[in-house]
Amino acid sequence: AINNGNTLRVASPASNITSELADIDWDNLGFGFMPTDYMYVMKCSQGENFSKGELQRFGNIELSPSAGILNYGQGLFEGLKAYRKHDGNILLFRPEENAMRLKMGAERMCMPSPSVEQFVEAVKATVLANERWIPPSGKGSLYIRPLLMGSGAVLGLAPAPEYTFLIYVSPVGNYFKEGLAPINLVVETEMHRATPGGTGGVKTVGNYAAVLKAQSAAKAKGYSDVLYLDSVQKRYLEEVSSCNVFIVKGNLIVTPAIKGTILPGITRKSIIDVALSQGFEVEERLVSVDELLDADEVFCTGTAVVVSPVGSITRQGKRVTYGNNGVGLVSQQLYSALTSLQMGLTEDRMGWIVEL
Ligand code: COI
Repeated sequence: AINNGNTLRVASPASNITSELADIDWDNLGFGFMPTDYMYVMKCSQGENFSKGELQRFGNIELSPSAGILNYGQGLFEGLKAYRKHDGNILLFRPEENAMRLKMGAERMCMPSPSVEQFVEAVKATVLANERWIPPSGKGSLYIRPLLMGSGAVLGLAPAPEYTFLIYVSPVGNYFKEGLAPINLVVETEMHRATPGGTGGVKTVGNYAAVLKAQSAAKAKGYSDVLYLDSVQKRYLEEVSSCNVFIVKGNLIVTPAIKGTILPGITRKSIIDVALSQGFEVEERLVSVDELLDADEVFCTGTAVVVSPVGSITRQGKRVTYGNNGVGLVSQQLYSALTSLQMGLTEDRMGWIVEL
């Protein structure tokens, strides 16, 4: 039968799911939204636990105009990826870590959250139902986007009376338009991403709306993204709009410590362990913006960006370059080590891979 990517011969979810690859241009995936076949939906009331979710055909959802997420930003998201291994098996990377981070964030945002087991099972079900959208080995990955939101109606400021946990997926390639080539960052001096005691350390949706203005201004000037400084001393590195940051000095790798204003990235944490296992010294501490001046390499990490080498950083008009217009050796080495693991090309000694 001909499958044009828009039609799927399905009567009910979980039955009759075709595993033929979707008919799209697998060689030119960027990081853009592409609708797939199914999404996972699970609801619960405030004060109760999530219990029974289901796969539904992917589509728009209905929300009250008074929903907590729409009015007061009561929402969190997650991001993880599924890879198709060369032998056809499907691999997830540390999904329990996303589940645990969502739980921590839910606590901060006054929301109930699915258990780690519910989260991981829901991710697996959603990936399997959308199997034909997982790129062929080596061409990208299936980005998995769990959402947790206050879906019930509120008017006065309060936690919403109902919550929805939803997972959708989209096939993706490289995040930055530069592909794997080094990106160019600009240090933001006016705006800040997070403040002590705020929500910078959890993956709440508002953190990402808050960086759009600086990001758009930077892009309009030709930069790839923005590097934020702490909001108190305006001197220490925090993170980039959508990823964590690392600097390399010889055998030493340094990254800002997690202290409430920085998103605890799962790729960040994994790269620290990979670097340690390869004999690098790693420090998590305050990193002064001046340390950018004598770094050998700078790179960013995130689920979406993976490991992205930084080619230059501009601060108050002064530009420092890294890697001689190429990818730095350490960035390249860590990128290869991480992606080989994620794609199942090297043995998983860390116990990070979940094979479906
Ligand atoms: C991710 O890396 O998965 C993120 O959540 C960043 C997002 C802004 C694309």
